[in-house]
Amino acid sequence: MLPRVVVHNEMSLDARLDGLDVDMGRFYALAGTWHEDCTLVGSETILAAMPDIGSVEPSDAASGGPAGQQTDEASSAGPLLAVVDSRGRLPGLARLRGQPYWRDVIALCSESTPREHVDRLEADGVECVQAGAPRVDLRRVLEYLADRHQVRVVRVDAGGSLVGVLLREGLVDEVSVAVEPRLVGGESHRWLVRAPDAEPDDVVQLSLREVERFEDGMLWLRYDVADR
Ligand SMILES: NC(=O)c1ccc[n+]([C@@H]2O[C@H](COP(=O)([O-])OP(=O)(O)OC[C@H]3O[C@@H](n4cnc5c(N)ncnc54)[C@H](OP(=O)(O)O)[C@@H]3O)[C@@H](O)[C@H]2O)c1
Repeated sequence: MLPRVVVHNEMSLDARLDGLDVDMGRFYALAGTWHEDCTLVGSETILAAMPDIGSVEPSDAASGGPAGQQTDEASSAGPLLAVVDSRGRLPGLARLRGQPYWRDVIALCSESTPREHVDRLEADGVECVQAGAPRVDLRRVLEYLADRHQVRVVRVDAGGSLVGVLLREGLVDEVSVAVEPRLVGGESHRWLVRAPDAEPDDVVQLSLREVERFEDGMLWLRYDVADR
């Protein structure tokens, strides 16, 4: 059985995930809507927030989470943090086990992930799941999280790359976006959805579920994926 998968992002009106002025308190208040059992994070998102995790030795550069998340919530009650990392770029993942929010960290790797990376994580006490090759088979790891860890709700905290793949594989149930009243412009690969090889048939139809307007002009839009 697959868990319910919700994508929640803050973006500009032109669908950019950078050049924003994110109120992190509000972002995580909205993100708490789903009470996820698991936060699914892309490797780039981890590296953008915590470049420290990309090396074995810790540095002073670490912040509080994929988007600087800080909370006093007890870790034993928090969600799992599952990180997609087929290339073994996050050797310092074990350092996230001590974060206050998540109850534990799982590395989602593939059968192509370097053996020494898997061995290092396991030696550090990090559960490492390998599915698919060369990239992670996202459907299989979601099924694993549901079966092995009783995960019923997953909130995706990632950029357009992971979001794009999840959407095209038909694994997303809900898309939630907080739209800042700004147009960033310019050229960037930081879009809400990235799908460089998308075909016309890959268009994802959405059905509006809810709209909320904030005093500063931000709109919070929630959509169900129509054919889920
Ligand atoms: N504004 C917001 O709400 C918000 C929220 C989150 C993140 N962000 C920003 O988004 C940026 C990062 O976004 P991003 O799009 O570059 O990266 P990302 O989505 O964080 O990371 C890409 C992920 O997609 C995986 N992936 C790519 N193709 C795949 C495939 N075919 N099958 C399975 N997995 C696949 C990669 O796995 P491998 O590692 O195995 O290749 C990687 O884990 C950062 O700047 C971050 O700050 C913004």
